[in-house]
Amino acid sequence: MARLLGIDIGTSGTKTVLFNEAGVPLASHTIEYPLCQPQNGWAEQDPHDWWMAVLQTIQAVLTKSGVKPEEVKAVGLSGQMHGLVMLDAQGHVLRSAILWCDGRTQKQCDEITGLLGDALISVTANPALPGFTAGKILWVREHEPQIYEKCRHILLPKDYIRYKLTGEFATEVSDASGMNLLDVTNRRWSGEVLSKLDIDPGLLGKMYESCQVTGVLTPAASEATGLLPGTPVVGGAGDNAAAAIGTGVVETGKAFTTLGTSGVIFAHSDRVTIDPKGRVHTFCSAVPGAWTVMSCTLAAGLSLQWFRSQFCGAEEGLAAAQGRDVYDLMTDVAQKSPIGANRLLYLPYLMGERSPLLDSDARGAFVGLSNIHTKGDMIRAVMEGVAYSQRQCLDVFREMGVDVADMAVCGGGGRSPFWRQILADLYGCPVKTIASEQGPALGAAILAGVGAGVYETVAQGCQVAVQAGPTQRPDPEDAAAYEPYYQLYRTVYPALKDIYHTLAGL
Ligand code: XUL
Repeated sequence: MARLLGIDIGTSGTKTVLFNEAGVPLASHTIEYPLCQPQNGWAEQDPHDWWMAVLQTIQAVLTKSGVKPEEVKAVGLSGQMHGLVMLDAQGHVLRSAILWCDGRTQKQCDEITGLLGDALISVTANPALPGFTAGKILWVREHEPQIYEKCRHILLPKDYIRYKLTGEFATEVSDASGMNLLDVTNRRWSGEVLSKLDIDPGLLGKMYESCQVTGVLTPAASEATGLLPGTPVVGGAGDNAAAAIGTGVVETGKAFTTLGTSGVIFAHSDRVTIDPKGRVHTFCSAVPGAWTVMSCTLAAGLSLQWFRSQFCGAEEGLAAAQGRDVYDLMTDVAQKSPIGANRLLYLPYLMGERSPLLDSDARGAFVGLSNIHTKGDMIRAVMEGVAYSQRQCLDVFREMGVDVADMAVCGGGGRSPFWRQILADLYGCPVKTIASEQGPALGAAILAGVGAGVYETVAQGCQVAVQAGPTQRPDPEDAAAYEPYYQLYRTVYPALKDIYHTLAGL
């Protein structure tokens, strides 16, 4: 049986998982690394830390599993999207990578919006966002011209690892979609955009589909990892696109929600559908000839984590004493509160909001607090508010004609059956879990399997390697009970918008 390696270069760490071709993880290893915040709102990482973590995690999974290097048929890469890695002519890193969660480039994004005009949305399919890569390139050109001068290669985080493994400067369509430089419809760099932004196309990697082989392991990388020289490395995908493959979201009608720190909804589409208002992102899918629509809210799990760290010290103590998860205890009290949390609404905009509001000044709020409210009501309101924000994103998908009938839920928050039920009631469709929790790493390994000929297509790889867990169906009565609260929730941000902007300026 073939073995496939999936490597996910995340923001908190790199997770490498070795799978058999049935998608069963044989060994997994994660190594964490720091996030540097040299200034408020900035976020950087040292690409060398990623490479060290990749080497050590590959060695660890080979040792733990006892799998021989010759059994590993291919390697797939997944990773945090949008990050900017700049290399000189010798392939040396010129500066720390500027990451997806770095917010320094609003000015450059405004410039891009002005320079590209209509082409911005019609060609790149997305607005210029500070998280995306083009603004970061312009920032370095403006603030560090001596570095830009020396720059010969621009890569995304996982594509830097590809370079270290294979010596190739290459990328693939799903991750490249998050740079504001790709012609998303035609799946190639946009000459028009690059020329308007005055970026030399020679700086960018060769473009592949996600399941194509982009190169093979060099003798040096073989020595450093323990894998055989010549092992193929496929394109792989950005973390969300890879998670889509790892959760079987490869057909129209299928989508997944991640309730992690942020909340992501990611839906498959057989055609390019672009929101002219830029409220959600349109990217190329890791499935050839398909696209995806994605929303990203910034404080989903983070909202509950914030509430826990500010107000749930007692529950934390009890959880430690009882050997239970503090979130389970918080859910126990939330479940005692009725739908609507005794007429309490929560807005989850603790970090401003990306989808669908695009407003970095928006902030969180409890609306309707009364002295009857308990901590349980507040926790329930937080969970409901996060679910309302996801439903509001899904409503944008539906408005665009991207319908979702089959929703998988993953991420830390997705482990809660209570939260999943709220989502099912609000989405109005069944939500299921996925048996394997390896999401992006499994997706990358499936893409590797397609590149190596182990699977015929991405969809066939998913049929073999992705197993669904339990499903929760919407309860029609509860769904009807949530509806007036959700409709009211939608009206709160517009009512507070001016207040948020004034508050930000004080
Ligand atoms: C997607 C996004 C994040 C990163 C980090 O647009 O910014 O999901 O990929 O994981």
